[in-house]
Amino acid sequence: MDKEVTLHRGLQGVYFDRSETTFIDGKEGILEYRGYNINDLAEHSSFEETSYLLIYGKLPNKEELSEFDAMLKSYRKLPEEIFDVINVVKDSHPMDALRTTVSALSSFDEDRNDNSEEATIRKGIRLTSQVATIVMAHHNIRNGKEPIDPSDKLNHAGNFLYMLNGKIPDQDTIDLMDKDFVLHADHGSNASAFTARVVAGTSADIHGAVTAGIAALSGPSHGGAAENVMQMAKDIGNPENAENYVKNLLVNRERVMGFGHRVYKAEDPRAGHLREGVRKLSHQMGEPEWYQILEKVVEAMSPYARRGIHVNVDFFAGVIYYLNGIPQDLFVPIFAVGRIPGWTIQVVEQFRHNILIRPLLQYTGKRKQGYIPISDR
Ligand code: CMC
Repeated sequence: MDKEVTLHRGLQGVYFDRSETTFIDGKEGILEYRGYNINDLAEHSSFEETSYLLIYGKLPNKEELSEFDAMLKSYRKLPEEIFDVINVVKDSHPMDALRTTVSALSSFDEDRNDNSEEATIRKGIRLTSQVATIVMAHHNIRNGKEPIDPSDKLNHAGNFLYMLNGKIPDQDTIDLMDKDFVLHADHGSNASAFTARVVAGTSADIHGAVTAGIAALSGPSHGGAAENVMQMAKDIGNPENAENYVKNLLVNRERVMGFGHRVYKAEDPRAGHLREGVRKLSHQMGEPEWYQILEKVVEAMSPYARRGIHVNVDFFAGVIYYLNGIPQDLFVPIFAVGRIPGWTIQVVEQFRHNILIRPLLQYTGKRKQGYIPISDR
């Protein structure tokens, strides 16, 4: 007799462990890293400071921050051999190239045989810097250009944008990118962090966990949405077309990208910070229609708010990247660039009280089949 089981498809609403890193109240739309509200961090912190906070559990003092910043800067250059790897996969989607390259980086890491907490944190900090360099190096290599050497003067956000084309962006642009990285730095047990924890749960190393996290992030239900939102804005083309475009999607039971969230049933608290960025930037760039298109989509989706479907972090992000001259297929990799500190601390937490993550599947197939020799089939 088959046992009666309670299924939790998609592990929806299931707590699988405890964490001291990120608090989310999806009903109220609250997000805190280590007890600090995301609104305060977005307004007052920096990616470097937020990364320190996530990894070490406290805000750094001046000395600690400057030491941490120097460490991040010192890890920006990639081992020479890694450029060969990037070259081999240069025609892949940037997320696929990033996944392969991060995996290959494990061979060159001086802590590769050390899974202690200290070594894992060192590797995570190295990866935080290296991932930014990989994304832009791959982008230049696939366009037949030389990769641009990272700067040791700019902050993480400024250096990332600088490696796109060798131009130092203005301070407002750097600050907006920095805010985007702060907003993306961690988000509890989302699909990619959970994937990273599953890998760490077997006591595999952080390079394996981050490689798997990148694979999980690449899908359109997770990190891929920003890319699709930009495509949607381009397809809409004009604010007047937005309402009909959205109606058509909904009638066909298709998803409006950048809306909805497994956890947030109120507006994603990260989205508002980027909304203001799009508004300012699109006016500054003389392309206000992008902001207007997005706002019209939000208006057209307003009846869905009653069902808990609101804008999420990806909705406004894509247009910001686009207005900064970043190609569409780099939008998901940008999410990954911001997320490495989050994956790092989640792997560390998993290691601290490790347990193999191994749920059950309810078997619904045939049973007790008699084996048929191949000659009789
Ligand atoms: N547009 C239209 N309807 C939606 C949307 C949407 N974006 N999202 C959810 N719904 C509807 C869905 O059709 C379903 O309706 P019904 O009950 O009538 O079948 C209901 O809401 C519940 O949807 P669900 O798929 O069961 O909810 P979920 O928690 O599994 O989905 C989600 C979460 C993010 C996969 C989904 O909202 C979605 O596909 N959104 C679009 C993609 C997107 O923006 N992803 C980025 C997520 S935020 C960044 C990140 O964490 O990666």
